[in-house]
Amino acid sequence: MNIKEFIHKMPKAELHLHIEGSFEPELMFKIASRNGIKLPYKDIETLKQAYNFNNLQEFLDVYYAGAGVLITEQDFYDLTWAYLEKIHQQNVIHTEIFFDPQTHTERGVAFDTVIDGIHKALVDGQDKLGISSVLIMSFLRHLDEASAFKTLQSGLRHKDKIKAVGLDSSEVGNPPSKFKKVFDAARQEGFLTVAHAGEEGPASYVYEALDLLKVSRIDHGNRSLDDDKLVEKLIDLQMPLTVCPLSNLKLKVVNDMKVHPLKKMLQLGLKATVNSDDPAYFGGYMNENFEAVTQALDLSKKDLIRLSKNAFEAGFVDEATKQKLLQQLEVFQEQTVI
Ligand code: ADE
Ligand code: ZN
Repeated sequence: MNIKEFIHKMPKAELHLHIEGSFEPELMFKIASRNGIKLPYKDIETLKQAYNFNNLQEFLDVYYAGAGVLITEQDFYDLTWAYLEKIHQQNVIHTEIFFDPQTHTERGVAFDTVIDGIHKALVDGQDKLGISSVLIMSFLRHLDEASAFKTLQSGLRHKDKIKAVGLDSSEVGNPPSKFKKVFDAARQEGFLTVAHAGEEGPASYVYEALDLLKVSRIDHGNRSLDDDKLVEKLIDLQMPLTVCPLSNLKLKVVNDMKVHPLKKMLQLGLKATVNSDDPAYFGGYMNENFEAVTQALDLSKKDLIRLSKNAFEAGFVDEATKQKLLQQLEVFQEQTVI
């Protein structure tokens, strides 16, 4: 089996996906049109030309503009369903999805509209496609603590649908410490915690995410490699890192996939995983991410299995579900002579 087929057929889990970042231009124009909203791009081609980013902020500006056409529960359902259908074709059997409530509540869309649409699609994803999923409510770190608290309050009415809280948006200048109290409160309510850290921000933000926000995973974490002591700590903790290769390339976190730190992370014994982050904007879903790093870093099939196993092990699911998922990977491994 060639490596491309191997990547395609390997059962995979995605742990770092912003549902608003899976908004494909075609669907964006369709939803904008049915909501009577005019996008600031004349057509799909012009929109795609805007997908050239020099940093995280340039991307976020386009991403928030795109999300602005999502109004109804059906819109959120359609967005989520399109993502699930896509990953189903790629043999992704489990996914953990971020949603950014404030991106929508700030412009007058009700919290319930957002979560109900997403959740209904996730239920259908399980029933019709056999994809298990977890929802992570992410706070926008460029907004203030009070806004995050208000969002947490809204989330409490949907505790049954939300497993964890996260932290995303503009990293530099918005350290994890800004949200310590909100994360304390979230943990007291029984939520697990994760945070984007060390994407553009320094290694000290990764320390803060671990020590102050008590995260169970670090989203990205690339800049951890600047600090040997931190690397040691992450290895000791076997702290999962949700790494996003194509995102890193598109946002110029790395200049070339050939210098992406993923292989080094594996060699060091860090618990790295591969994820798509915002696939509609960064040129690919899970398989394209795996293909890009495999080609650039000459990853072996053993490396690929390790990465997939790491993701299943790092999932926020109960032990029985985890074992079932891992078993699917084992069956694949047994059927495939590596
Ligand atoms: N929101 C969506 N994608 C993001 C990323 N890669 N970093 C921070 N915030 C985000
Ligand atoms: Zn992200």
